[in-house]
Amino acid sequence: MGRIYNFSAGPAALPEPVLKDVQDELLEWQGTGASVMELSHRGKPFLGMAERAEQDLRDLLTIPDNYKVLFLQGGATAQFSAVPLNLAHLGQSADYALTGHWSKKAIVDAKRIIGISTVCDTSSDGFTAVPSVDEWDLSDDAAYLHITPNETIAGVEFDCLPDVSVPIVADLSSTILSRQIDISRYGIIYAGAQKNIGPAGLTIVIVRDDLLGQFPESAPRLMDYSVMADSDSMSNTPPTFAWYLAGKVFGWLKEQGGLSAIEALNKAKAERLYSYIDDSDGYYTNPVMPNVRSRMNVPFILHDSAFDAEFLSLSHETGLHALKGHRSVGGMRASIYNAMSMEGVEALIDFMDSFKKTH
Ligand SMILES: Cc1ncc(COP(=O)(O)O)c(C=O)c1O
Repeated sequence: MGRIYNFSAGPAALPEPVLKDVQDELLEWQGTGASVMELSHRGKPFLGMAERAEQDLRDLLTIPDNYKVLFLQGGATAQFSAVPLNLAHLGQSADYALTGHWSKKAIVDAKRIIGISTVCDTSSDGFTAVPSVDEWDLSDDAAYLHITPNETIAGVEFDCLPDVSVPIVADLSSTILSRQIDISRYGIIYAGAQKNIGPAGLTIVIVRDDLLGQFPESAPRLMDYSVMADSDSMSNTPPTFAWYLAGKVFGWLKEQGGLSAIEALNKAKAERLYSYIDDSDGYYTNPVMPNVRSRMNVPFILHDSAFDAEFLSLSHETGLHALKGHRSVGGMRASIYNAMSMEGVEALIDFMDSFKKTH
């Protein structure tokens, strides 16, 4: 069997040249006679690689010098707790935008640590819209404002930020590195790696350095961003293989022309797929308001759910995998992260079109 087109929401497709490169050096890495997985994270080869990976990420995102970049474990979910623990000293309560499944989860975890005020709540719309940031009910004295700019499950993405004086914290798990962003507008950015960065097991945190250093004594030390910043993310053993592989993905992204080039491609891929869906005379529909449709995760529903199972089995046979929508939304979802080519999107559209003609 050849390589499939993998539309998984995460762990997601990785760039093939990266996988081949990793395959080539799996047994012997950089003249060490061992796999990178078998080497100490304190040794010179690994430290050199780790530094390069961080620099490449800094270059790609133009991360200012007053931000630390952390390579952590625990997934984005661990950051749901780490963020309030690290920032609770800034206020009694934090503002959260409730725009989908993942922001809801972030709120549940944060509530155990800090008071929460919801600045917008789109649950009654089934998480298909996001009110303009001018309409958000922002508090004057929030410790921080938490947003989820891309809700992976409903396929909702927004790129507007309100003008606030408090730190903005963003869960960028499913949109990081897919488009250019101005890091200086954020206090903290975090992202699980398994969509646009590398394999599961690595979590990137980018944190402005003035926010560090006020962590509660009683809380788990490994969740203290300043402990991780002071130890170059090596207070304990880091996820070495995932870090190495992420470094390869950063290198690949640079070769593609960086974020402006990948953003243009992502925009073109998403526009192509949404236009096909919108022009399908109602055979396929996407329920999300057009101004907040995600470039990364495209849910779509067949006009008759009785065809869902057949759509999934035939698409799978055609080499188009992982198109089943999240159970809370139903239907289908095509995740088209950086590693998904335009050819993959065209192959999906060809399949959708032939399915439409025959069902
Ligand atoms: C936007 C978003 N936040 C958080 C998570 C949870 O990430 P993890 O499984 O890495 O904890 C996900 C997972 O898909 C996600 O898409």
